[in-house]
Amino acid sequence: MTSYRPDALIASDISAYLQLHQNKSLLRFITCGSVDDGKSTLIGRLLYDSKMIFEDQLASLEADSKRVGTQGGEIDFALLVDGLAAEREQGITIDVAYRFFATEKRKFIVADTPGHEQYTRNMVTGASTADLAVILIDARKGVLTQTRRHSYLCHLLGIRHIVLAVNKMDLIGYDQAAYDAIVEDYRAFAESIGITSFTPIPISGFKGDNITGSSPNTIWYTGLSLLQHLESVEIDADADAARPFRLPVQWVNRPNLDFRGFAGMIAAGTVRPGDKVRILPSGQVTEVARIVAFGGDREQAVAGESVTLTLADEVDCSRGNVIAAADAPPQVADQFQATIVWMDQAELLPGRAYWLKLGTQTVSATVQPPRHAVCVNTMAELSVKTLGLNDIGIAEVYTDRGVVFESYAQGKDLGGFILIDKATNATVAAGMLNFSLRRAQNVHWQAVEINREAHANQKHQAPRLLWFTGLSGSGKSTIANLVEKKLHAMGKHSFLLDGDNIRHGLNKDLGFTDADRIENIRRVGEVAKLMTDAGLIVLTAFISPFRAERDLVRQMLPEGEFFEIHVDTPLEVAEARDVKGLYKKARDGQIAHFTGISSPYEAPEAPEIRVDTTRESPEDAAERIVETIMGTWSPVI
Ligand code: ADX
Repeated sequence: MTSYRPDALIASDISAYLQLHQNKSLLRFITCGSVDDGKSTLIGRLLYDSKMIFEDQLASLEADSKRVGTQGGEIDFALLVDGLAAEREQGITIDVAYRFFATEKRKFIVADTPGHEQYTRNMVTGASTADLAVILIDARKGVLTQTRRHSYLCHLLGIRHIVLAVNKMDLIGYDQAAYDAIVEDYRAFAESIGITSFTPIPISGFKGDNITGSSPNTIWYTGLSLLQHLESVEIDADADAARPFRLPVQWVNRPNLDFRGFAGMIAAGTVRPGDKVRILPSGQVTEVARIVAFGGDREQAVAGESVTLTLADEVDCSRGNVIAAADAPPQVADQFQATIVWMDQAELLPGRAYWLKLGTQTVSATVQPPRHAVCVNTMAELSVKTLGLNDIGIAEVYTDRGVVFESYAQGKDLGGFILIDKATNATVAAGMLNFSLRRAQNVHWQAVEINREAHANQKHQAPRLLWFTGLSGSGKSTIANLVEKKLHAMGKHSFLLDGDNIRHGLNKDLGFTDADRIENIRRVGEVAKLMTDAGLIVLTAFISPFRAERDLVRQMLPEGEFFEIHVDTPLEVAEARDVKGLYKKARDGQIAHFTGISSPYEAPEAPEIRVDTTRESPEDAAERIVETIMGTWSPVI
């Protein structure tokens, strides 16, 4: 039998250890299982059997095992892994832990991912870089909801090699019939989600059956042990190098005027000096001049390597651009269909702008209401309005500019993305681009001959958007009306869009949930924008409670045209006035999601104008607003 214990390993000398293994192929895998499936024990045993446990840890492990009192004085490997991750107090694994170990044949990086349902995000993190997944099943329990969820996620994330490790065989007396039944059960499920092949292995992480060698307890099992399988499974490492060339540019290296290099990690393909390349999204074509590397120029570089390229021509190319094979470039689009795994406590807000990070590109993106969610137990398509924690759904994603991409099935690097909440910076979702929507490519901007300057000049004014925001009853409409009267008297061309009125017409399909308010403001923003294009001074009076959407509208307009006016009336004051009697109703529970009471209001942080209605009369406020906006206007001559 092969020994899995590298000789002469000095515990502290990890670099020597890595050196020892540098020419071996690398297998990245993840282990997925439910709480208590024995995952930690299994990983602990793999590490132990390949001697990646350092001596001091081993000593304390033996002491711990004695203290905890495992049967027969055996070492409890879960204590090791659990101890490393400091997860014992929690009773569940809570974060992705990457561990390195090696045997004589191969080296491994294992992502130990949490089994608890709440931690789908960690599992997605671990799975996105894995070649293989070990799905653990407790032989006493069989295929569980978790098993299905994990398998589906692994499949979705493009992991092609799946091992079904039926663990704790010792606890069911190494019963072949029970094992076969579990494998059959899993096979039916796997086929239903498109997993065409998997490798089942009966094991006991605790006793060591079929971990490194064949177990005498399962003579009916003729396949490889888990470690033998991990050592021999063929992963197609060359496939990436054979694909068309793609280099997402991470940074532009420009130490002096004579040198301009584009650095990044090659996502796919092979590159050589002289290769014709296309820069995306611009589409400019040039040639690779040099592949600059530490220690001298290279004749060739392949997927997975970090390099710096110089190009034959002066082209525009910056961080986030992709340098690609000229004759087989990736696409550029701004509307997609995507599969999204929601990973945040706060649910998806369709229409809200999130940061979308795809490789080295970061853009602003909104997600449309999902077409459906996928029930991971039954694979049924569920009709839903949004996605909550751990939900998986299909939805359209719109970005504010063109994104260089490939479908996830073609390449993970240019097909996988994450969504980040702009306010909290939390990663809220992981997603896979399925395809771009053709309608985005076929709808072009119609060039208009009478442009916004022409419209504004004819009216002898500069377009403005005066965006009044504040609680219901704060005085937005009152002040906005006064401002408009003054503008009108000055001969200005204006228009007032008011919340209550718009909600009777254009937005009568919308209520007051967060999602509806976001859509309300988005539409009003678009209408207001068109009106400024027509040269008007537009006034809007909407609660517009969320910073994100107010900022979204601000971004839609040229710099300096948007004026955020916070009509700052304390809740007590607005409630005491209760002009429409709505606060009373809300307090009585007759109106749900009422701003200030059962729905939040996010006050502007830096409004252009703030009106404290407890100190300033509406008339004075209106006067001041007109002065401010007119003061910033210089006529176009
Ligand atoms: S927004 O939040 O989407 O910007 P909008 O300004 O259009 O709200 O509408 C607010 C007006 O709708 C309030 O002034 C009030 O008259 C009425 N209203 C009815 N229900 C609610 C509610 N649940 N919360 C706030 N306003 C409500």
